[in-house]
Amino acid sequence: MDRKDLGDKVVIVTGASTGIGRATAVAFRRAGARVVVAARSRPQLESLAEQLGGPSVALAHALDVAEETQCRQLIEHTVAHFGGIDVLINNAGMVVSGRFEHLQPGDVERQFAVNLFGVVYCTRAALPYLKQSRGVVVNVSSVAGLIGTPTTGAYGASKAALNALGRALWAELQPYGVGVVTVCPYFTSGVQLAQKAIIRGGSPHRRETPARRAPGTQTAEQVAEIIVDAACRRPRLVVLSPFGRLVWRLDRLAPWLVDYLMQQVINGRLRSLLR
Ligand SMILES: NC(=O)c1ccc[n+]([C@@H]2O[C@H](COP(=O)([O-])OP(=O)(O)OC[C@H]3O[C@@H](n4cnc5c(N)ncnc54)[C@H](OP(=O)(O)O)[C@@H]3O)[C@@H](O)[C@H]2O)c1
Repeated sequence: MDRKDLGDKVVIVTGASTGIGRATAVAFRRAGARVVVAARSRPQLESLAEQLGGPSVALAHALDVAEETQCRQLIEHTVAHFGGIDVLINNAGMVVSGRFEHLQPGDVERQFAVNLFGVVYCTRAALPYLKQSRGVVVNVSSVAGLIGTPTTGAYGASKAALNALGRALWAELQPYGVGVVTVCPYFTSGVQLAQKAIIRGGSPHRRETPARRAPGTQTAEQVAEIIVDAACRRPRLVVLSPFGRLVWRLDRLAPWLVDYLMQQVINGRLRSLLR
């Protein structure tokens, strides 16, 4: 599929109230697609849908992706309104941050409920319609799911599970002409992820907007353009940015070096990388 073919397509973006999801919905709409913007914050979604052109081309739907019934309702609402689904962007996500020993009962469960089961529920409900349209699912994962990172172990584990699920689905759905793409962003600016994180003692994460960016940081708009391209071209895996790819490759070639660097980060000696 080419960008110019997006004109009559129906695209659902979860986690579209802020950050990468919002920018992705804007980018799809700019390419001519009809969009459904989904997240928990109804006022933000309604104002975004209005900005994007209103109900004939942009629909707001409030949900918690951790609730399977609500994911089914999102899909039913989309099909009732636009008549089908061509692209599902599973982008909604959150971070639990802190050393494992500081996490509280329910933290890891919530991490997986949103980042993994939210994708499972939306994809399961959308699959019959994606088979009809020979559409595509894009899962927004993370470089953390490729290498695992200290103080965000639960987050990395949820994204690693998402990567494995995406790889399996990619093969299983090929005979139906349904694409499955895993996009792994690296550090991204212009997002709310840190502000909305569950942060437990001992975490080097900061809620405030970073004054300095980690090397290789991309903007939410840059990531959004890559997601739109990925939905059209349908590669199995996209790893962002050049620096993210460097870290990922280095981890495969010299994992001891990445372990050493990550220890320097959590022990504070390279903490400026996270600011
Ligand atoms: N920022 C980065 O550096 C980075 C790096 C790698 C991967 N990612 C991934 O990129 C994706 C987007 O995150 P972002 O960086 O753009 O952060 P963000 O600005 O915090 O966006 C997260 C979105 O998910 C929604 N969301 C969170 N929990 C939800 C729930 N239970 N049900 C429905 N929607 C929910 C949020 O909206 P509501 O609060 O309104 O529900 C928001 O729209 C996430 O999957 C994240 O893991 C981000």
